Amino acid sequence: MYDGGKIITGLIIFIGLMTFPVWHNGGNAGVLPKQEKPVGKTACVKPTVEMRTSHMLLLNQWRDEALREENRKPFTVDGQDYEKSLMVGCMNCHTDKKKFCDECHLYTAVKPYCWDCHFPPKENL
Ligand code: HEC
Ligand code: HEC
Ligand code: HEC
Repeated sequence: MYDGGKIITGLIIFIGLMTFPVWHNGGNAGVLPKQEKPVGKTACVKPTVEMRTSHMLLLNQWRDEALREENRKPFTVDGQDYEKSLMVGCMNCHTDKKKFCDECHLYTAVKPYCWDCHFPPKENL
């Protein structure tokens, strides 16, 4: 048997939680995280807006190319070659995992499991 009352109460709580960031602060989602941008670099491997939304897809693509297709051709940003790699590609420019990746992931409640195996740059361990 369905308990209509419980389902509706559940739904109301669910919707309340899901929209909490919206009504909590009068429509203001709170203070946006301020990530530390790489010093002395001007561009990412793809346009910033695209990186913001799709960096996880690019990482998967790189992993597949590097490991499954053995295509480790470097990619070039501002005339400089970088490796198709999380550790020596991305983290070569984004040297501070805490103040860049984590800062944003904490805010968006994402916990990539990559660091179980991959090391962030040594100075920030
Ligand atoms: C269970 C351990 C493990 C986890 C978890 C893991 N990786 Fe890897 N990853 C590896 C190993 C081993 C290699 C191979 C290293 C090599 O041969 O260069 C690799 C290679 C890669 C490469 C290509 C080459 C390089 O050196 O970076 C990318 C990109 C990559 N992983 C991304 C990711 C991302 C993104 C995540 C999280 C979503 C992730 N990995 C999680 C073990 C792991
Ligand atoms: C050549 C240096 C370089 C490499 C390599 C690089 N980035 Fe970036 N990345 C930058 C710079 C510089 C910016 C800021 C650009 C701007 O301010 O418009 C940026 C921006 C970003 C952003 C958007 C941040 C925001 O403001 O919303 C994300 C996410 C990101 N990078 C992730 C990655 C990932 C993941 C990798 C590896 C797949 C990577 N980057 C590789 C230099 C790099
Ligand atoms: C501008 C904010 C921002 C920055 C900076 C950022 N990320 Fe993310 N990242 C996100 C968001 C949001 C998601 C979740 C997207 C989704 O679930 O569709 C995510 C997801 C991921 C995922 C997939 C995790 C999963 O469980 O599916 C990986 C891997 C990842 N990020 C790696 C990185 C790395 C490495 C850096 C630093 C070089 C970085 N990100 C910097 C916002 C960011």
